[in-house]
Amino acid sequence: AQVGVVIVGAGPAGLVLGNLLLDRGIDCVILERRDRAAVEGRARAGFLAPRAVRILTGNGLAAGLLARGQTHTACLFRSDRGEFTLDYGKLGPGEPHTVYPQQELVRDLIDAYLRRGGRIRFGVEAEEITDGRVRVRGGTDVTGRYVAGCDGHRGIGRATLTAHGTRTARWDHGVSWLAVLAAAPPSLPATGYALHERGFAGHMARTASVTRYYLQCPRGTDPADWSEDRIWTELATRMRTAEFGPLREGAVLEKARVDLRSDVLESLGTGRLWLAGDAAGLISPSAAKGANLAVVQAESLARALAEALAHGDEAPLARHAGACLPRIWHAHEFSQWMSTLLHGPDGDDDTARYGRALQYARLESLRTLRSHQDFFAENYTGI
Ligand code: APR
Repeated sequence: AQVGVVIVGAGPAGLVLGNLLLDRGIDCVILERRDRAAVEGRARAGFLAPRAVRILTGNGLAAGLLARGQTHTACLFRSDRGEFTLDYGKLGPGEPHTVYPQQELVRDLIDAYLRRGGRIRFGVEAEEITDGRVRVRGGTDVTGRYVAGCDGHRGIGRATLTAHGTRTARWDHGVSWLAVLAAAPPSLPATGYALHERGFAGHMARTASVTRYYLQCPRGTDPADWSEDRIWTELATRMRTAEFGPLREGAVLEKARVDLRSDVLESLGTGRLWLAGDAAGLISPSAAKGANLAVVQAESLARALAEALAHGDEAPLARHAGACLPRIWHAHEFSQWMSTLLHGPDGDDDTARYGRALQYARLESLRTLRSHQDFFAENYTGI
């Protein structure tokens, strides 16, 4: 039997989409390669923009994040020129972030989806998508009027579109981060960005007992070479603890290398296959936009699919893509801006010195110019 929409992938994009489709009375099924514990245990992003929070709240998906999330309204920057705090909650549109670990959001979304009577099949891997038919490894095909590829940037949804000629625009930032998750309370009252000649270091709150840190590292770095001691020593140097006070250390729960890359597909879908989230575009984590873009796109795609199914007409899907792509590019433009603020060039030749001087000029205008601060606040919290 054919369902309305087959959703491939149970990340934030697929789960928001599934919930919103059920609310509109659309029959759907989610296929997820991993088992439920694996999906619910993946610690990733944690900063929700006001627009994503409004979408989740407006659709009855925010009870957990409203109860347990923390409101963040400030970030601070450190360098050899000192430290300053930007109260972005009082600048630009004056809006906060909600800090809520992504795996908790995913857990809430799965619960909500099942409570709405939704079907989700864990441990089921999509292998091929042809028209509305999804071939499943070792199982029976699942067919939908539409297929939503919410299976991340290495998924079959993206591969199917690109195999049929959809092109990609891509940027490699040329830097990597060692992403560390520590069993430690936050060390700073705000998100911290440290510029250092040894490379960027970042501090991002997650919960009262878990904190995310980032250390810029060379491409190809093996996380196994980074012992706990080495991580804390390097963080202390780059975050200038001698000057600004110690970090609250704890056991390292996870460490992984993230290569900063960004890409966007030139189209979000065609015919019966439509993508959302990382499948449609990967964004470097420098401005914490990935999960937020996934939520915003899923909401827009849900509306478009509902209309397309109701009227037997694909025009709403084309309109959805036309509205989403500029938003995606806007987020990329700011992420790129953040990336050049946080990462100075390597080396000590004339070009590297020029790049580093610009990096500090940008930091200085962020410290002193109200118009830059407003620009930052609007883009940092906006989607
Ligand atoms: N068949 C079934 N499921 C698949 C397949 C497949 N062939 N390929 C991938 N998946 C599943 C993955 O196991 C994963 O659970 O698709 C899901 C994709 O989820 P995410 O990677 O979280 O992507 P998305 O929902 O777009 O969310 C993007 O979340 O973690 C962040 O950095 C990410 O912030 C970004 C946001």
